[in-house]
Amino acid sequence: MKASVYTEYGPPDVLQLKDVGKPVPKDNEILVRIHATPVSFGDKLVRNLNEITPGKFHMPFLFWIFAKLYFGIRKPRITILGSEFAGEIESIGKDVKKFREGDQVFGYLGSRMGAYAEYLCMPENGVLALKPANMTFEQAAAVPYGAIMALSLLRKQNIGPGQRVLVNGASGGIGPAVVQLAKYYGAEVTGVCGTPRLEYVRSLGADAVIDYTQEDFSARDEAYDVIIDILGKSSFSKVKRSLKPNGRWLLVSFKTKKLLQMLWTSIIGGKKVICALSTEKAEDLVFIKELIEAGKIKMVVDKCYPLTQAAEAHRYVEQGHKKGSVIITMEE
Ligand SMILES: NC(=O)c1ccc[n+]([C@@H]2O[C@H](COP(=O)([O-])OP(=O)(O)OC[C@H]3O[C@@H](n4cnc5c(N)ncnc54)[C@H](OP(=O)(O)O)[C@@H]3O)[C@@H](O)[C@H]2O)c1
Repeated sequence: MKASVYTEYGPPDVLQLKDVGKPVPKDNEILVRIHATPVSFGDKLVRNLNEITPGKFHMPFLFWIFAKLYFGIRKPRITILGSEFAGEIESIGKDVKKFREGDQVFGYLGSRMGAYAEYLCMPENGVLALKPANMTFEQAAAVPYGAIMALSLLRKQNIGPGQRVLVNGASGGIGPAVVQLAKYYGAEVTGVCGTPRLEYVRSLGADAVIDYTQEDFSARDEAYDVIIDILGKSSFSKVKRSLKPNGRWLLVSFKTKKLLQMLWTSIIGGKKVICALSTEKAEDLVFIKELIEAGKIKMVVDKCYPLTQAAEAHRYVEQGHKKGSVIITMEE
């Protein structure tokens, strides 16, 4: 089969189209013919891991060490990127009960990766579900990562009607799903993003948008119940004044200092810092599929590139102009 393979870390050009062995499903696995996979934050990060110093890494130092050991210190150990996908089941192992040949599915591979290829195998109990009937493969491929993370993070926050939520980083992989889920739960939502993506975030249902290149949201005279910070770009000393008395600053990316702030604010009460880690469950993906089919969540695709142009797709994302998801498709 064809795959976009990289054998050294570096710029987009390290991605090369190669012939590799087609995987064979084990008894409990399905073989998926992949139609589409997006370019995600993780793909860009891992492709360029040798450039990512602990300072550039958005998580604690220990996580950086684990990432280096897992993905390879000098050279990539996992040579095919792509953590989410949409496609069609070509064959199944003899013990598979939940899926059948011909089912259209979408799924999340996480750090295992491997979706920049024509085929992949995964266990039937992995994070996998039938594709939403009202989405194309290109749209569905970009759903799992952001939606599963957003659902897992928001569920614990009891967000509901009457609450005000601000999403700092509303236009990337996770933010759009946070905006749409917070709206689904009934909150009033403000999305913060860069200038080119203001209209995109508004189109996702945000009640208000703020351009972080023009304005610091924490300088506004506004108060929120929850501020969700995707990249952990702000500081508690600033964010505090934008939180209601029992407000929460929910950090999706955080350093050790913020973990200590979480500990401290959990003791003293009042405004809280919460450093959250998501969990990935197949039943969450099934719930997301149902929300999509009910018209509660949508996915905006900006551009599609064939697998032969995976490097070009990465270059486009790195230029910072994208307004929605950038998708790699297996068909020319
Ligand atoms: N806690 C967990 O369990 C967990 C799980 C998965 C991932 N993560 C973390 O989540 C992060 C990736 O999230 P993602 O996939 O959504 O990333 P992404 O696709 O790169 O999106 C980043 C978002 O942040 C915005 N942004 C960039 N600079 C900003 C600034 N100075 N101020 C405010 N917003 C800014 C971007 O806006 P524009 O593009 O419009 O400029 C965009 O909306 C990583 O740090 C990863 O480690 C955490």
